[in-house]
Amino acid sequence: MSAPVHATPKTPPKTFHVKSFGCQMNVYDGERMAELMAADGLTATDDAAAADLVVLNTCHIREKATEKVYSDIGRLRKHAREQDRAAPMIAVAGCVAQAEGEEIVRRAKVDVVVGPQAYHHLPKLVADAAAGTPALDTDMPLASKFGALPARRRVGASAFLTVQEGCDKFCTYCVVPYTRGAEVSRPFDAIVEEARALVDAGAREITLLGQNVNAWNDADDRGLHGLIRALDRIPGLARIRYTTSHPNDMTQGLIDAHRDVAALMPFLHLPVQAGSDRVLRAMNRSHTRDSYLRLIDRIRAVCPDIALSGDFIVGFPGETEAEFAETIALVDAVGYAQAFSFKYSPRPGTPAATMEAQVGDAAMDDRLQRLQAALNRDQAAFNAATVGRRCTILIERRGKLPGQWLGKSPWLQSVHVIGDHAIGDMVEVDLTQAGPNSLTGRVTAPAAATAC
Ligand code: SAH
Ligand code: SF4
Ligand code: F3S
Repeated sequence: MSAPVHATPKTPPKTFHVKSFGCQMNVYDGERMAELMAADGLTATDDAAAADLVVLNTCHIREKATEKVYSDIGRLRKHAREQDRAAPMIAVAGCVAQAEGEEIVRRAKVDVVVGPQAYHHLPKLVADAAAGTPALDTDMPLASKFGALPARRRVGASAFLTVQEGCDKFCTYCVVPYTRGAEVSRPFDAIVEEARALVDAGAREITLLGQNVNAWNDADDRGLHGLIRALDRIPGLARIRYTTSHPNDMTQGLIDAHRDVAALMPFLHLPVQAGSDRVLRAMNRSHTRDSYLRLIDRIRAVCPDIALSGDFIVGFPGETEAEFAETIALVDAVGYAQAFSFKYSPRPGTPAATMEAQVGDAAMDDRLQRLQAALNRDQAAFNAATVGRRCTILIERRGKLPGQWLGKSPWLQSVHVIGDHAIGDMVEVDLTQAGPNSLTGRVTAPAAATAC
């Protein structure tokens, strides 16, 4: 469906800026939109305030994410008024566009609204808007958008590659199944081809992305581990990562790949959300506290060195203080290397939004603070425990100091080094110092990758 929403003829844009919010899949989509607009003859600019067209690639996961979009639109228009220039064309893409298409049009009068499965139509929608027929396209067509996107261009040392989209899990708090649609795996050959193109464009590390990336599969039942083993054969690809995984889709094949595939980094983001079985059931997580902990044991048995990461929600409706204490106890039991934690945010249309006993904001603030204190403690402990270890880092960018470079350890820690390096170098370092969020390394000599 492509429906006219309001009419404001504009000069066709010559420059554009894409701003992505939310998860890594949105970052990937933003990159693909930028490639699409560039292939259509527009020039990218880093300065949103100077662009003729601003694409806001939005996230709907929590309330503040949506509000941020509206304030961004207001700011862009105010800035244009202050500069005495025409307001930029605004295209709202991403998950807010999918969830609230009509509402955005009503509230913010933007030129284009395009959903995550329809953004390959962006050039046409922008052209329509410029010609005076602004458009809303939130279709989820059967034919995948990926085939309609241009080839990958230059990328950094570490690149994202979406291999799976959507979610069939329907956790009761979550909008993703509604904004991204059903679980779909991209075809094996298309992924391998895109991975090769990314390596040719400069990537040394690829992070495979999916809302449930470990649910990736194909007709030959190769599973994500089969895909990883195939990618491991691409010359020049030094590192492979994947995110986000669901505990129920963590197969033994994938766990074993952490032992067998040297390029597969010893890091796993495996959200648990809460530590209480009653809360997990109410969330419709379909795993228990115990099944999660047993899974962690199986993973650590194969890869003792693995760094674990997670997501947590505090204050899910009905969560008691005792149930929250079970989350803290689970954190203590696992010892995460890093984690994300959020206050529960009621999302329109999700079952949890209308559940009884919504938890008050003061209690949520208090729980979040206590949870984050425990997670920060464990992150600092994990970082401190790696001091004295030798590992390879992938240089991703320059640091702030002269001669300083920033790279990533196998365990996804940021490591600062001083030396004569370049982006994409694999550098062997001794980790000498740890802070809460990054480490310092001393360069030894060029070397091969480290795994578990
Ligand atoms: N598919 C992944 C992640 C999806 S969204 C998974 O299942 O783990 C990323 C994170 O946002 C979730 O893991 C969850 O912790 C958080 N989240 C999702 N909906 C939320 C909500 N309504 N309120 C607060 N946090 C939420
Ligand atoms: Fe959302 Fe749950 Fe699906 Fe993750 S598994 S995307 S939290 S519904
Ligand atoms: Fe946000 Fe959509 Fe990603 S809601 S977290 S941008 S899938």
